[in-house]
Amino acid sequence: MKHAKSGIGKHITGAGKKTFFAVHPSRADSFTESVIREMTRLALANKAINLAQGFPDFACPPELKTAAIDAISNDHNQYAITWGSKNLRDALAARVKTFNGMDFDPEAEITVTCGSTEAMMASMLAIIQPGDEVIVPEPFYENYGPDAQISGAVPRYVPLAPDFGIDEEAMKTAFSKKTRAIILNTPNNPTGKVFTRKELAFIADLCIDRNAIAITDEIYEHIVYDGRKHVSMGSLDGMHDRTITIGSFSKTYSVTGWRVGYALADAAITSRIRKIHDFLTVGAPAPLQQACVAALDLPESYYHGLAAEYDRKRKILYNGLKKAGFACELPEGAYYIFTDISGFGMKDREFARYLAEKVGVAAVPGSSFYSNGGENRLRFTFSKKDETLVEACRRLGNIDM
Ligand SMILES: Cc1ncc(COP(=O)(O)O)c(C=O)c1O
Repeated sequence: MKHAKSGIGKHITGAGKKTFFAVHPSRADSFTESVIREMTRLALANKAINLAQGFPDFACPPELKTAAIDAISNDHNQYAITWGSKNLRDALAARVKTFNGMDFDPEAEITVTCGSTEAMMASMLAIIQPGDEVIVPEPFYENYGPDAQISGAVPRYVPLAPDFGIDEEAMKTAFSKKTRAIILNTPNNPTGKVFTRKELAFIADLCIDRNAIAITDEIYEHIVYDGRKHVSMGSLDGMHDRTITIGSFSKTYSVTGWRVGYALADAAITSRIRKIHDFLTVGAPAPLQQACVAALDLPESYYHGLAAEYDRKRKILYNGLKKAGFACELPEGAYYIFTDISGFGMKDREFARYLAEKVGVAAVPGSSFYSNGGENRLRFTFSKKDETLVEACRRLGNIDM
């Protein structure tokens, strides 16, 4: 008999009997596969340039490669302590103090995780009770929807203003007695918005008034343009103990495959995050944690160089997109351009497929960043070599419709 609800399953034979093995409904049924990863597959199948998934096609700093090789040669090959190697937590505490202006005790307030992806999931599982509301400003990085569903939270999507700033009225209305947390991403993927101190202070006040926690995804903190400054929510008055700051080595050091990130939070929250993290993963890769200590040793000039490189790449892609007929703005931070495709007369998914299959450039359909809407948008990343971007722009110049 087929499973009445899902109908998913297969006929199997065992012990002389043929039976139907039903796959029972699960929480995973409530969300779809990542559209970004799906677009990467489409790019590979069509030999298209992948401007969909945000990862570099250039090398990470050579110091990091050497440090990773050394760590393996020097036998850092067994489990690290579950919440992260001591020298990495110490180095993170020092870095966060000088760059972000925040004090965190490496013994009790820092958890090293398997990328910021795990840091976000572990944080939500640590603080959410099923039925709690979590505010998600929209558009949003697509993982936050499934993160909310997995943790049992009820996501409350709140549209950003037309310029992707905070819509104060909408935000005020969204905070309710059930609000447990808000997830804020600055610099923002996909919009490129860098939230100002004033905008963050407005949200901080709401969190303090309504006893909510801010979970801030700051993984693009070093990729900001035109003299802007990244501000950490946790550095604002009254926010140290009610903010979980999430960071990662993926984007700052071009090592998205290493899967090393971290969560910073006061001791009571951290002790919960650490328990969840332990049972989910045991720990982040031990040799790569050692290599991340070397990353934190890079001079200040590294970070300025990174922002300058991305500034150049942002302009190459922006000019190419404009020439090809896309409506877009230069992003303030991160490494994406969120375009308006209304002028092309096709919806996002159809247009993304057309671009990957016929033009040879993959992008992400805008609707994957919205609970509802976004069909008039496509997101392109410029985390690629200059020559990759130049070739992508040449191909985009051939859109024929
Ligand atoms: C906003 C945002 N958060 C998290 C991630 C995932 O980062 P990590 O590699 O640290 O898991 C990404 C990746 O693109 C991202 O854009």
